[in-house]
Amino acid sequence: MARSCKEKHSFAGSAAEVPLEGRSTARQWWKENVVYQIYPRSFCDSNGDGVGDLNGIRSKLGYLKELGIHILWLSPVYKSPNDDNGYDIADYRAIMDEFGTMEDFDALLAEAHQMDIKIVMDLVVNHTSDEHQWFVESRSSRDNDKRDYYIWREAVDGHEPNNWGSCFSGSVWEWDETTGMYYLHCFSKKQPDLNWENPKVRDEVFDMMTWWCDKGIDGFRMDVISMISKKEGLPDGPVEGLYSPCVYSVCNGPHVHEYLQEMNRRVLSKYDLMTVGETAGVTVEEAKKYANTDGTELSMVFQFEHVGLDDGPVDKWCTDPMSIPALKENLTKWEKELEGVAWNSLFFCNHDQPRVVSRLGDNSPQSAKCIATVLHFMQGTPYVYQGEELGMTNCPFGSIEDYRDIESINAYRELTGAGLREPKELLECIAYKSRDNARTPMQWDDTPNAGFTTGQPWIMVNPNYTTINAAAELADPNSVFCYYKNLIALRQDSKWSDVIVYGSYDLLAPEDEAVFAYTRRKDGVTLLVVCNLSAQARTFPIPETVQWDSAELVTGNVPQAELTRQLALAPWQAAVWALA
Ligand code: GLC
Ligand code: CA
Repeated sequence: MARSCKEKHSFAGSAAEVPLEGRSTARQWWKENVVYQIYPRSFCDSNGDGVGDLNGIRSKLGYLKELGIHILWLSPVYKSPNDDNGYDIADYRAIMDEFGTMEDFDALLAEAHQMDIKIVMDLVVNHTSDEHQWFVESRSSRDNDKRDYYIWREAVDGHEPNNWGSCFSGSVWEWDETTGMYYLHCFSKKQPDLNWENPKVRDEVFDMMTWWCDKGIDGFRMDVISMISKKEGLPDGPVEGLYSPCVYSVCNGPHVHEYLQEMNRRVLSKYDLMTVGETAGVTVEEAKKYANTDGTELSMVFQFEHVGLDDGPVDKWCTDPMSIPALKENLTKWEKELEGVAWNSLFFCNHDQPRVVSRLGDNSPQSAKCIATVLHFMQGTPYVYQGEELGMTNCPFGSIEDYRDIESINAYRELTGAGLREPKELLECIAYKSRDNARTPMQWDDTPNAGFTTGQPWIMVNPNYTTINAAAELADPNSVFCYYKNLIALRQDSKWSDVIVYGSYDLLAPEDEAVFAYTRRKDGVTLLVVCNLSAQARTFPIPETVQWDSAELVTGNVPQAELTRQLALAPWQAAVWALA
């Protein structure tokens, strides 16, 4: 039995931290558990309308418990016209019609808590939907009360006020006829950016957060929170492609830390929460502020450098493989730099990323286990994205009509329309990188539609559900599911928990082209982690700095692996030993 989050509270209250070796290693429940991300639309449909929903999630809590999960992060479930699948919110205090009712939410929260599972909500407050009441009022006249809730500007010489490009293609500026001005939107034109410089906006957001906290939720994942403070004066930025990507001008802006500290003082510090900032464009130096161990801002942040290593020269639409030495160098930088001063979150997958087993692996269960081992033994809080624990792969989408994601569809239209990319080549890149790869329905069993729905699913089901599915994997002790279950149990409740959570990290053999190997050390315990991220057998000489008299196998995807100095590794082999 995993130690429960509740029990952990008795020694891990945010105010009375118990230091281990200095502040950095202060125990916290959100450091000692693994977070499971649910994309509700694609998780489980309880009423046959083809869209996942809250009652569907509730029906699968037993499955999550079996995996050993104590923290869930739900992608947005609020009322939304779904221009960006719920990341465009029309009412922060109501549930999306397709997902159910507030009563359904309350029932889910209560049952999760009974099962010792915490729920972290997505908080999308860089922007709202254009259908949010605030924006409806804001756009109605220049002197409306809520005009300054959003970012309005006059045209400059009949044009957009600057050259910034939206993350979803086109300009960030949308002309609004009613008042003859432009409003700013870093994402779709149905996602106008809030004006955080306006103290009334901050009051509204903090009130709304307090309302959710009083309901008893356990934390927030904060959507693009690094973008809430824009560069002073909104100046033009450097052009790449057709525009200057807005991320160059809106990330880590002049007031972002001030706003988060205010949020922390006014809301977060009053509850025992886990907070994780989605911080596009974050550097280690910035992360040390966002996720500082003093607890004045957030618990941790998502950084994106490692998932950008296989980007193309202008954008992410590229099929080049990721360099393993570059990946090792990057993750090691984050491990070393944040140790003792901030806290890492560890992820390869989420609803915006393609499936990692199709990106770093070769779609095989063996590669899924190997990649999981790399991540789950690092210092930081690991995140599992729905289906990752089954080894779910990218989906063989055909034409652009198969996609539902606004980012993929807009990029295809804009880049082929402008003659910048050749349709066939771009479609291959979209097949490889599209966010929809992560958004196909969860594969529960081998019945029609993978057991996700009895109706017509809102997006195609990956045809490999007949072999990759939860029912089959629960019954197979060698499955990817059982491997993840063990990784989670090792971190949460084993004699190695302390070194896995809090031990210091050191990379071995940085130059090795395929093997990702490192040690974790704490209080005289050393773990040696060796992962062959390639489909070839390799020999890995264990560096002389690593010494042992005896080695106990902690876990691995090849039974009874023996540690030798010239280590022979099978394709995608992963092994972890405890050295003495
Ligand atoms: C974040 C979300 C993404 C969404 C965007 C706009 O990056 O993860 O899914 O499209 O913000 O809200
Ligand atoms: Ca449904």
